[in-house]
Amino acid sequence: MCSAPYNTTNYHPNSTIAVDSSKNKAYTIREANPADISQITEIYAHYVNFDLCTFEEIAPTIDEMLKRYTDITEQKLPYIVATTDNDMILGYAYAVPHRTRSAYRFTVEDSIYVSPSALRLGIGYALLRELIKLCTLLGHRQMVAVIADCGKQNSIQLHERLGFKRAGLLSSVGYKKQRWINTILMQVALGNGDKTSPNS
Ligand SMILES: CC(C)(COP(=O)(O)OP(=O)(O)OC[C@H]1O[C@@H](n2cnc3c(N)ncnc32)[C@H](O)[C@@H]1OP(=O)(O)O)[C@@H](O)C(=O)NCCC(=O)NCCS
Repeated sequence: MCSAPYNTTNYHPNSTIAVDSSKNKAYTIREANPADISQITEIYAHYVNFDLCTFEEIAPTIDEMLKRYTDITEQKLPYIVATTDNDMILGYAYAVPHRTRSAYRFTVEDSIYVSPSALRLGIGYALLRELIKLCTLLGHRQMVAVIADCGKQNSIQLHERLGFKRAGLLSSVGYKKQRWINTILMQVALGNGDKTSPNS
């Protein structure tokens, strides 16, 4: 695998993805695999370089993204992608432990990134809905979203549509592109939430 930092010069944000919405299923959601990581790295690099939604400021290498993917899947947490029939990655999502101390073990945190060429096609919604389903089946009880408050409604409204409620605001905890950024915390209960005890 290439270990050089990902170069965004070959990225074409204006190119359009051939999605046939009339078929009502222009993409497939499936588990990610290591072969997907180079396309995932490319999508993520766009948001690192050009957006405030991630607090990372230097786009990670493919090797680093592969390491993160391996860390997540070795913990038996879901890492999923939305793809076209010819395996073009349109978006990806994964869950990580919200915090590492053991009592947090039933609480996960989600991340979702949709290719800038495939926004507003329902892919983010489909990925988050599947992630919620998988984390619920795995026995997790709460899902938390930590969303950069940069004036955009996309992530907030996406999470609201899937039942997340606002749970807090952390002021000016990020500084990127010469501006202070708040984070909005959102949360949804999974399965029985706190109505019953978990298994262990
Ligand atoms: C947030 C993000 C994942 C949404 O993905 P998407 O595939 O474009 O979203 P969808 O088409 O599935 O939209 C689902 C809902 O989200 C909300 N939404 C999505 N984009 C929106 C926008 N630009 N403005 C307002 N609401 C928006 C809407 O409620 C939408 O439902 P609707 O289309 O019926 O109105 C995508 O914008 C993205 O990857 N952003 C950068 C990364 C990011 O911020 N990730 C979240 C970090 S946790």
